[in-house]
Amino acid sequence: MVKGMEFVRVALAVSIGWLAGCTGGEEEGPIVPPPPPPAEYADKHMPSEWWDDAQKLEEGRRLYLGEANPDVKCSSCHGNDGRPVKAGATDFRNPERMKLYSDSVWFWRISEGVPNTKMKGWKSKLSEDDRWKLVLYERNFGLPGKVWSEEQKQWVDKGAQ
Ligand code: HEC
Repeated sequence: MVKGMEFVRVALAVSIGWLAGCTGGEEEGPIVPPPPPPAEYADKHMPSEWWDDAQKLEEGRRLYLGEANPDVKCSSCHGNDGRPVKAGATDFRNPERMKLYSDSVWFWRISEGVPNTKMKGWKSKLSEDDRWKLVLYERNFGLPGKVWSEEQKQWVDKGAQ
């Protein structure tokens, strides 16, 4: 009897996982918090006056789409609107996932990439400023109007940090 129940439970868990995996063409894995940034990135943050700087945002948009530098075209994998066009690329439109990324983690990943994935590091091609502009732009897909509050360790509405 116990065995039978266990089987049902496992079968259920498997099929729920399978169903979740199939909805909406979601090809990313489950939502798990990213690792903390290494020491050299932990204290790096978005310059606070940039959060509502339309010019920086526009520069981020141009970088993201490959308009500023054809060697840097995040949209070729992450999609023009943040909807991934290459399997496995992180979906920036998902606030449940993206809110787990502090500005430092975001910046670190863009700088160094994610080992053993197609996401390479961009620090040799992009200045620190350019990398922050990309954080600014990508954040708009899933967390528009939010800013990272280092005090609260979370994304908060602009003006509430
Ligand atoms: C060749 C395809 C490709 C390009 C081009 C690309 N990415 Fe990615 N990116 C990926 C993939 C695949 C992942 C998912 C890595 C993983 O499994 O964690 C990813 C993940 C990320 C993440 C999340 C990292 C994490 O910890 O999950 C960020 C942020 C990101 N990319 C930013 C960028 C930016 C900014 C650019 C442009 C400068 C860019 N990407 C260009 C493929 C790409």
